[in-house]
Amino acid sequence: MGRYRYIIIISLLAAVVALLSRCISTSSAETTDLRGNNYAGSGSCRQCHASIYESFAQTAHANTSAAQPMQSARKAIASGNNSYAYPNTDVIKMEEANGSYHQSLYKDGEKTFSYAFDLTVGSGRKAQTYLYYNEASQLAQLPISFLVQKESWVNSPGFPVESPKFDRIVPSNCLGCHSSYIGVKQSYQGVVLHEEFQKGAIVYGIDCERCHGDAAKHVAWHQEHAAEKKGQFLTSIKGLSRDQKLDGCALCHSGVKDVERSLFLFQPGDRLSDYYAPEFGRQDTAKMDVHGSQAQLLMASACYRMSADLSCNSCHSVHVKERDQLATFSARCMNCHKEIQHSTLKVPEEQLQTNCIDCHMPLKPSNIISLLEEKKERAEPDFIRTHLVTIYPKETAAFLKSLKGHKP
Ligand code: HEC
Ligand code: HEC
Ligand code: HEC
Ligand code: HEC
Ligand code: HEC
Ligand code: HEC
Ligand code: HEC
Repeated sequence: MGRYRYIIIISLLAAVVALLSRCISTSSAETTDLRGNNYAGSGSCRQCHASIYESFAQTAHANTSAAQPMQSARKAIASGNNSYAYPNTDVIKMEEANGSYHQSLYKDGEKTFSYAFDLTVGSGRKAQTYLYYNEASQLAQLPISFLVQKESWVNSPGFPVESPKFDRIVPSNCLGCHSSYIGVKQSYQGVVLHEEFQKGAIVYGIDCERCHGDAAKHVAWHQEHAAEKKGQFLTSIKGLSRDQKLDGCALCHSGVKDVERSLFLFQPGDRLSDYYAPEFGRQDTAKMDVHGSQAQLLMASACYRMSADLSCNSCHSVHVKERDQLATFSARCMNCHKEIQHSTLKVPEEQLQTNCIDCHMPLKPSNIISLLEEKKERAEPDFIRTHLVTIYPKETAAFLKSLKGHKP
C-alpha cells in the first residue's frame, strides 16, 4: 500500500509541476519581457502611441537586427544569385532549406559544411552581415555579407580575401548597439572572455525602451488612468540637459570602444562615462573615421560649440524614417541660419536652400568599413555623411558642377 501511495504522490507532483511550468511559460510569453518585469515590450506602446509606433517600425533603428535576412537578399538566393568564389577556388553558396538560410562551403564542387544565418545585423541601408551560433554557443560572423544597392554578395568587412573564414567570434557588444537585449553567460578561460549565448534569447532591433528606459510602470499606470494627459513614470528626454541628450545617442554613435558596463543598462539621463572607459587627449577630427563617430564630429563643429542647445534631435526626428530627404534636413539648418548670406557663391537662393547638406556635410569614405566584391581588386569603402559641419571648398566645387550639369 505504502508504495502505491508513494507513486500516486509522485505522479500528482509531476502533474502539478508540469501544469505550473506551462502556466509560467505561457504567462511569460504574454507578459514578461526578456529584460525583466520593468520592461513592457514595444508592442504595448502601440495602444496609446499608435502613430509613433507605426512610423518607427520603418526605421533603421527598429530593423537593425532580425531573425531573417532582408527580402532582397532572400530573393537573390531564390533567383540563383547566390555564390561567392574565392581566389583559392573555394566557393560559398547561400542556400535555403525549409525556410532557413545557410552559407555552405564547397571545395572542388563538394559541399563540406554549412552554417545557418541565425542572426542578421544591419537594417539593409547599405549592407547586412550575418551571425551564427557555433558548437560552443558562441556567436560567430559568416564570411559573406550582402551589399544592398548592388544586390551582390561580398566578403565580410575585415575578413581575409584569399579564402573563407568561419571562426570570427563576435562579442556581445556588437548586439549592445544593434539590438535591445541579448542573453549572454560570461566566463573567463584564463584571461580570455568566453561568451555563451542562448539561442532565441534576443530582443531584435532598437526598441522604444532602449531609448526611453524601462516603461512597464508607465504602461500600467496609464492603462489605469485613461484621463491622465501627462506622461508618468518615465524620464522625459525633452527635459534633459543637452549633454544628457547627446549621451543617449552617443552610447551607440561615438564609435566602438572598451565597454565597462553593459550598454543594455543605459537609462535616459545616464552619462556616457558610466559605460565607457574615458578617452584621453584631444580627438583629432581629421583622422577620425566617419563610421559611427557622429557624436565627436558634431561636438567639434561650430554649430555645436557656438550654440547652447544643438543636439542630435535638432536635425533628426528618430521616430520617422527621413533618409535622403535633404530638403527636410536643410529646413532644420535654417531654424538657426535664417539670415545666411553666401558672399562667394553665385547660385540661385532657392537652390542653396534645398540642399545645405552636400556642401556642409558631404559624404566621406569610411576607413573601417569597406566591402570586397567577387573578383574585384579593391574593396569599396562605405560612404558616410560626415558630422563635422563646416566649409568644404572641394565638395562645394563638385556640387556646383553637378548643378550646372542639370541645367537644360
Ligand atoms: C495606456 C496608454 C499608454 C501606453 C500603453 C503607453 N503610454 Fe506613453 N504616454 C501615455 C500618455 C497619456 C502620455 C502623455 C501624453 C503624450 O506625451 O503623448 C505618454 C507619454 C509618453 C512619453 C513622453 C514622456 C515625456 O514627458 O516626454 C514617452 C517617451 C512614452 N509615453 C513612451 C511610452 C513607451 C515606450 C510605451 C510602451 C512601452 C508607452 N509609452 C506606452 C500613455 C501611454
Ligand atoms: C542602442 C544603440 C543606438 C542608440 C541609443 C541610438 N542609435 Fe542611431 N543607430 C544605431 C544603429 C546600430 C544604426 C544603424 C542601423 C542600421 O541601419 O542597421 C543607427 C542609425 C541611425 C541613423 C541613420 C538612420 C537612417 O535611416 O539612415 C540615425 C539618423 C540615427 N541612428 C540617429 C540616432 C539618434 C539621433 C539617436 C539618439 C536620439 C540614436 N540614433 C540613438 C544605434 C543606436
Ligand atoms: C533612438 C531613440 C528612440 C527610440 C528608439 C524611440 N524614441 Fe521616442 N523619443 C526619442 C527622443 C530623442 C525624443 C525627444 C524628442 C525631442 O526632444 O523633441 C522622443 C520623444 C518621444 C515621445 C514624446 C512626444 C514626442 O513625439 O516628442 C513619445 C510619446 C515617444 N518618444 C514614444 C516612443 C515610442 C512609443 C517608441 C517606440 C515605438 C519610441 N519613442 C522610440 C528617442 C527615441
Ligand atoms: C558602438 C556601437 C556599435 C557597435 C559595437 C557595432 N556597431 Fe555596427 N553600426 C553602428 C552604427 C551607429 C551604425 C550606423 C552608422 C554608421 O554607419 O556610422 C552601424 C552600422 C552597421 C552596419 C551597416 C548597416 C546598414 O544597414 O547599412 C552593419 C552591417 C554593422 N554595423 C554590423 C556590426 C557588427 C557585425 C558589429 C559587431 C561585430 C557591429 N556592427 C558593432 C554601431 C555599432
Ligand atoms: C541649433 C542651431 C544650429 C543648427 C540647427 C545648425 N547650425 Fe550651423 N551654426 C550654428 C552656430 C551658432 C554657428 C556659429 C556661428 C555662425 O557661423 O553662424 C554655426 C556655424 C555654421 C557654419 C560655419 C562653420 C565653420 O566652420 O565656419 C556652417 C557652414 C553651418 N553652421 C552650417 C549648418 C548646416 C548646413 C546646418 C544643417 C545641416 C546647420 N548649420 C545647423 C547653429 C546651428
Ligand atoms: C546639423 C544637423 C544634424 C545634426 C545636429 C545631426 N545630424 Fe545626423 N545627419 C544629418 C544629415 C543631413 C544626415 C544625412 C541624412 C540622409 O542622407 O539621409 C545625417 C545622417 C546621419 C546618420 C546616417 C549616416 C550615414 O551616412 O550612414 C547617422 C547615423 C546620424 N546622422 C546620426 C546622428 C547623431 C547620433 C547625431 C548626434 C550626435 C546627429 N546625427 C546629429 C544632420 C544632422
Ligand atoms: C554650393 C555649396 C553650398 C551650399 C548649397 C550651401 N553652402 Fe553654406 N557655404 C558654402 C561655402 C563655400 C561657404 C564659405 C564661403 C561663403 O560664405 O560664401 C559657406 C558658408 C556658410 C556659412 C558660414 C558663413 C559665415 O559668415 O561664416 C554658413 C553658416 C552656411 N554656409 C550655412 C549654409 C546653410 C544653412 C545652407 C543651406 C540653407 C548652405 N550653407 C548652403 C557652400 C555652400
